[in-house]
Amino acid sequence: MPESLTVTVVGAGGKMGMRVSANLDRTAYTTFYAETFPAAQDRVRAAGRELTDAMDAVPRSDVVILAVPDVLLGEISASIVPAAKPGAVILTLDPAAAYAGVLARRADLHLAVAHPCHPSVFLERTSAQEWADTFGGVAAPQDVVAAIESSDPSARDRAEAVVRAIYAPVIDVHWVTVEQLAFLEPTLVETITCMISGLLKEALRETVETVGVPEPAARAMLFGHTQVALTNSLRGSNPFSEACLIAMDYGRQTVITEDWKKVFDRDELDRVIARMLRIEKVNRPGEAAASAEIPT
Ligand SMILES: NC(=O)c1ccc[n+]([C@@H]2O[C@H](COP(=O)([O-])OP(=O)(O)OC[C@H]3O[C@@H](n4cnc5c(N)ncnc54)[C@H](O)[C@@H]3O)[C@@H](O)[C@H]2O)c1
Repeated sequence: MPESLTVTVVGAGGKMGMRVSANLDRTAYTTFYAETFPAAQDRVRAAGRELTDAMDAVPRSDVVILAVPDVLLGEISASIVPAAKPGAVILTLDPAAAYAGVLARRADLHLAVAHPCHPSVFLERTSAQEWADTFGGVAAPQDVVAAIESSDPSARDRAEAVVRAIYAPVIDVHWVTVEQLAFLEPTLVETITCMISGLLKEALRETVETVGVPEPAARAMLFGHTQVALTNSLRGSNPFSEACLIAMDYGRQTVITEDWKKVFDRDELDRVIARMLRIEKVNRPGEAAASAEIPT
């Protein structure tokens, strides 16, 4: 792994920018922080970091982290990419823009994407700091899934070194393709997992407000059963009871549409990503792409 790197964080005052900057502060890398919005610039300065204009910092950087809103990545990469030094890694933190073909590209640069997995629900947390670190990147170890469009192993080493630093403490970095990463996020974790977490919250509200169950009782049942249901389903820790299996079948037939697995079709992924990026359609090289219209 390379020890001496120069890194620029573009969007250093945003949510991810502040997180990754705090971790880069702990490395020996030379780091530049670029940010355009006054309130976000104040956050960077308040954390004791100096601001540098992106156009000064980017040409000197081995790795440029684009920690900016996904809907602006096309426009921002169009100004950053031409200024980058040959051989640099351009790192985004979400696969949507790379998948949709909205990022500016240059043949002599390496485009990478790295998304944190967040600390596992099954992580054995051994300290109060780990317990408090729900997002990851502070004390609780997490994995990262990453993709790089490059056949140069040294570019991947540089990307991995920075990825391990910005999301530290990191257990493993799993390398996949950009498309596989897009099926992980949004499909697996946002379309399905985050959606189900929202459903649980709504179900809790219904139980309390419509049925009239005291909230502490409903929360206690929900939180404990969420834990045991996840470990039973995902790790096979205990069998579900016969009666529970009948209730689960009823729930599945009543709550889930029969064709729900269509979310794993590539055309559906294209549609949802186009919608997320507020573009008409994704532009997968060499293929006809789907429009953003999701049939209702
Ligand atoms: N927020 C999360 O939980 C999370 C988790 C994983 C990955 N991500 C990814 O991280 C990236 C950033 O998301 P975020 O939530 O931190 O966004 P954010 O809106 O919190 O921050 C973006 C920052 O970029 C700045 N910015 C905008 N245009 C700029 C420009 N031209 N030059 C410099 N700075 C500019 C904004 O002022 C803002 O401070 C996205 O790709 C997102 O998908 C976010």
